[in-house]
Amino acid sequence: MRATVTAHKDYTISKIDDRVYGAFLEHLGRAIYTGIYEPGHATADKNGMRGDVAQLVRELKVPMVRYPGGNFVSAYNWEDGVGPRAERPTRLDLAWHTSDSNAVGVHEFADWCELVDTEMMLAINLGSRGLDDARNFLEYVNGPTGSYWGDLRKKNGHADPFNVKLWCLGNEMDGPWQVGHKTAHEYGRLANEVAKTMRAFDKKLELIVCGSSNADMPTYPDWEREVLEHTYDNVDHISLHMYFANRENERALAEGGTAEALAKNTANYLALNEKLDRYIATVASTINFVKAKKRSKHNVYISFDEWNVWYHSNKQDRKILDGNDGWPHAPRLLEDIYNFEDVLQVGLILNTFIRRSDVVKLACIAQLVNVIAPIMTDPKGQAWRQTIYYPYYFASVFGRGTALQLDVNSPGYDAVHGDNIGYVDVSGVHNEEDGTISFFAVNRHASEAIDVDLSLEGFGAATVIDHQVMTHENLRAVNTATAQTNVAPAKGSGAKVDGKTLSVKLQPYSYQMIRVKV
Ligand code: AHR
Repeated sequence: MRATVTAHKDYTISKIDDRVYGAFLEHLGRAIYTGIYEPGHATADKNGMRGDVAQLVRELKVPMVRYPGGNFVSAYNWEDGVGPRAERPTRLDLAWHTSDSNAVGVHEFADWCELVDTEMMLAINLGSRGLDDARNFLEYVNGPTGSYWGDLRKKNGHADPFNVKLWCLGNEMDGPWQVGHKTAHEYGRLANEVAKTMRAFDKKLELIVCGSSNADMPTYPDWEREVLEHTYDNVDHISLHMYFANRENERALAEGGTAEALAKNTANYLALNEKLDRYIATVASTINFVKAKKRSKHNVYISFDEWNVWYHSNKQDRKILDGNDGWPHAPRLLEDIYNFEDVLQVGLILNTFIRRSDVVKLACIAQLVNVIAPIMTDPKGQAWRQTIYYPYYFASVFGRGTALQLDVNSPGYDAVHGDNIGYVDVSGVHNEEDGTISFFAVNRHASEAIDVDLSLEGFGAATVIDHQVMTHENLRAVNTATAQTNVAPAKGSGAKVDGKTLSVKLQPYSYQMIRVKV
């Protein structure tokens, strides 16, 4: 099979906001406890932060991390996590049916962010709490000393304001599962008052209002319209979430499904980013609709602050979530073990964000450590990279610059979520500072290699400087503590530039990064 792609220096989508490669850490399962924080671990620093985990996070160059939830935040009292540790209360977490010692709070998280060189994105509780707590938390985090909250922060060890810019106004407030779930009207009114109040403290904050928890919510996309009608001029981003699953294959595997049935499910699974693309396009249109209705000059963008594959652990989590284990502290929850198929999926999702970088300015892989995460740890043991670590790594490290508007001609197939889905999915990023273009490509075909001719227009002479390939004979291959590199990238060969044409062969079911110097 063959495909052609044209990249032109002047046909661009947008400058990519680096923060589209952000991540998320929630007080959930072992994300914090025995994830980033494990005093007594062989690699722990004086604050109890695991050095092996910090090293893997630094490698990813994560630009910002959302904290402390998620569903957790909707019944969280931030005050529980500040002050002397010995005096912090252990609380029951109603979202995940666990308990939390509060050994980690905003100060420890801020220290960890400094350690891994990332920016904080904080979420406020608009479920069980409201305006007063939001302003108190903001003043505690960013306020000057000489005021009540600033002085308390100083007493707790941090005189300087943390200067957090990114603030999420609650989490998934459209979800009936959320503590303090609200209608769009109730939430829109509250979010607007909170946003106004936070802006009265600091006009330069970037505020993120809740959109839909997923594109199948019965209230979507009316929720976005109504919430934005209440908040438009006072917020900067609207938050969307989406999780990806191949449940059909899980069922088919359990029932001994045929190879043909499994391949069809994979084909549908790998077309899900078409649904993601439509979700983004719909919300972008809704933003424009409200902007026009308000006669506003202000721009609102999308913060895709929870995205990932999430389904492998669903069954095993039921016991804890149903309350059959009492209130365990930091149990194994949402510990999806990712396979090679998920590498392709994560590559496709990131390609979509690159292509939608004109409207998606913030995004967070959910989550970062242990909980539906690219990094796994064993308590007292090792930390390792899950399969999905790699496409996230490649995009985050090399996908910075300007997204190119590629013209792609690829044979395709029909799937549940769209027709004529190209077997080749590709994004391209031009980094003018270092004079490189990085292409991230996925071949969705199960058995056919695809020869791609990529025409580089307006760039001048080009040479291949890197070619990384991820492929595996088994879509269900995983990495574990004892087989950490079972699924890992290998140096590709055969990518070459002839004149202005970059040619590369994409093996069946493969993820590839090809970088050229121009
Ligand atoms: O990331 C796991 C959970 O997924 C988050 O807590 C919630 O916001 C979403 O439903």
